[in-house]
Amino acid sequence: MKLDNCLTAENINQKLLNIQYAVRGPILQRALQIEREIQKGVPKPFERVVRANIGDSHALGQKPITFIRQVLALAAFPELADSADVPADVRQRVQEILGDCTKGSVGAYSPSAGLSIVRTRVAQYIEARDGVPASPDDVYLGSGASDVIKAVLTMLVEDVDGKPPAVMVPIPQYPLFSGTLSELGLHQANYYLDEEHEWALQASELERCWRQASEDCTVRALVVINPGNPTGQVLTRQNMEEIVRFAYEHNVFLMADEVYQENIVSKPFYSFKKVMHEMGAPYAGMPLGSFVTCSKGWAAECGLRAGFAELARLAPAVRAAFSTARAVMQCPSVLGQCILDCVMKRPAPGEPSHPQFAAELGDIQRVLAERTETAYDTFNSIPGYFCNPIDGSMFAYPRVDIPEAAQAEAERLGMAPDEFYCLRLLEETGVCVVPGTGFGQLPGTFHFRTTILHPRDEFQHMMDSIRSFHLNFLEKYS
Ligand SMILES: Cc1ncc(COP(=O)(O)O)c(C=O)c1O
Repeated sequence: MKLDNCLTAENINQKLLNIQYAVRGPILQRALQIEREIQKGVPKPFERVVRANIGDSHALGQKPITFIRQVLALAAFPELADSADVPADVRQRVQEILGDCTKGSVGAYSPSAGLSIVRTRVAQYIEARDGVPASPDDVYLGSGASDVIKAVLTMLVEDVDGKPPAVMVPIPQYPLFSGTLSELGLHQANYYLDEEHEWALQASELERCWRQASEDCTVRALVVINPGNPTGQVLTRQNMEEIVRFAYEHNVFLMADEVYQENIVSKPFYSFKKVMHEMGAPYAGMPLGSFVTCSKGWAAECGLRAGFAELARLAPAVRAAFSTARAVMQCPSVLGQCILDCVMKRPAPGEPSHPQFAAELGDIQRVLAERTETAYDTFNSIPGYFCNPIDGSMFAYPRVDIPEAAQAEAERLGMAPDEFYCLRLLEETGVCVVPGTGFGQLPGTFHFRTTILHPRDEFQHMMDSIRSFHLNFLEKYS
């Protein structure tokens, strides 16, 4: 055997070759290259690259929540407890968490579903949010939501009634789903959100998608992202009830990606758990997967990797198999679990950490409210742009009319028109956004996704750059 033949593109798992993840795709790679060119003194028509490709609030300058970092520091190094700088509620919290860690160390493995104290707090958070009972036994902690979402999707890899499995996914979608489905060999059945009606989800479109997919596959699950990424809409309660009825009637597992539930500007958030419960029988008895992460919300601790799945009403044998599969991975990061504990039980009024926590939370909420408004107003004031109201998440997903001459130029270069547009935007302004092809869009429409949580001046600079770029682009190609 020749040594260079043991791993080749031809003999590795071919499914890996199909994975695409535009959020860290070719436009970002070019942005990183431009950053290196700037460092070397290569002249550019701008001073710096503005990265707006990924929903990572700390990378955009959001300050960590002090309470979280104090708990982390003390949990990692309990000797700090003697310091007069450590507030009493931080000391108390760490004592509780370490009391549940083997030998009082975050360096010891936890149970594979997570520390019991943290799972209990997750259940309490869900109960307080929904007014519906929740059990720690249904809670599985993970290293981010991606981890548990992939674990749940893995359960669906099985032919049923002689047909391969399919999963219904919204378009536009967050490419964790398309990428993981590709990796697992699950068929992706696309249903389109209705851009003309604030990205609502039409029951008739779900039916169309299901019918089409069912010709060759068995549809096993329906993914709903609420609030939406990249679209930023919050579904109405009526819409959610239609989705629940659809899932019931077609016997599909509802996977509710609810990771942006704490990033909403003004509308109320209803979890699918609550809506199902309030719809009563038979819907209240349906299985449900719901996903939350510390990467989003006000903590936004993306790099520390913590999240959870609540898997309600699974059959006992399914729960046992899932638990065993999770055990193989040992456990999620215990420091990550400490963060989740803080997110699930924030400092309460009257506790020493509360005033600072409340001030920090207020700043974060103000930034989101300001940026969603600026993004909406700015995009809708640019000729050829359209942007729906942004209810939440941390993104804008404007639609852009791309002139036919520019589309022809893109074709000549072997690119999609929106990829060409985003590449030109990057080359001419340094603004790095992600083309709509990475999330999906109605054929013939073009979008990009931008994160919106930059500091005010940086954000204004980005909006101004996009506007003047677009006007030049129109002049060149119209
Ligand atoms: C809709 C959605 N779901 C899940 C995730 C996964 O986040 P993480 O794995 O960092 O928890 C993200 C991250 O951006 C997301 O936007």
